[in-house]
Amino acid sequence: MNAVEGRRLYKTYGELVAVDHIDFDVRERECFGFLGPNGAGKTTTMKMIYGLAGVDEGELRVLGLDARKERRKVKSRLGVVPQEANLDWDLTVRENLVQQALYYGAQADGRIDELLALAQLGQRSASKPRELSGGMQRRLLIARALINQPELIVLDEPTTGLDPQARLAVWDLLDGLKDGGVTLILTTHYMEEAERICDRLAIMDQGKIVAYGSPGELRDRYGQPNLEGVFIEITGRGLRE
Ligand SMILES: Nc1ncnc2c1ncn2[C@@H]1O[C@H](COP(=O)(O)OP(=O)(O)OP(=O)(O)O)[C@@H](O)[C@H]1O
Ligand SMILES: [Mg+2]
Repeated sequence: MNAVEGRRLYKTYGELVAVDHIDFDVRERECFGFLGPNGAGKTTTMKMIYGLAGVDEGELRVLGLDARKERRKVKSRLGVVPQEANLDWDLTVRENLVQQALYYGAQADGRIDELLALAQLGQRSASKPRELSGGMQRRLLIARALINQPELIVLDEPTTGLDPQARLAVWDLLDGLKDGGVTLILTTHYMEEAERICDRLAIMDQGKIVAYGSPGELRDRYGQPNLEGVFIEITGRGLRE
């Protein structure tokens, strides 16, 4: 079974077509990436998957559920790392996790220590999120997304703005989750990130999926040494133009 299936998925904001009839499958236990420039529709697609944005047209199945009809059920079974760090800034690191556990009615105590260790934040549990570095905040967001032991985690730009070392720490964390059998869906602007951690990906541009496959397949299909080349080959532009 696929973890997520999108068919002719479509969403507008007023006149603007944010996601334009896209088709994709995310396989169980893989790391799937949505890669693309600003405004491509990556976040909108993620929000539809995790139930924050409604689907205008098309079909969307998440963990075997109809995401259009069972948004609450879907939400309870996945973990989300949003594009903006939406931590509770008045609470400590540990309290942020406790709060999330309460929200899900999850068993808190042992689990929280486990997650703090996983995110390498054990020493910082009494800090406020603002006292953490950007990389630590990102790891806290990931730890928080794991509280309900989700089978699927959706991460919107988990490494944007991080320095190379902090990015490596996040990649290690994500590798570990994948080894543990979790399905990952993430968005990124970084081609090298997609090449490094995604098993398969969809390159989006202006609401459409313009290329779809494993990094190796895409490089071969378009005869390019890397995904940057693939994107330029398809769109005639660089990813950052
Ligand atoms: N709440 C909203 N109201 C109106 N328009 C929106 C809204 N959210 C997104 N859009 C528009 O939809 C389009 C797709 O936006 P989206 O946030 O999905 O892009 P993205 O690929 O995540 O971009 P970025 O890389 O900058 O995060 C953009 O043109 C954006 O302006
Ligand atoms: Mg976005």
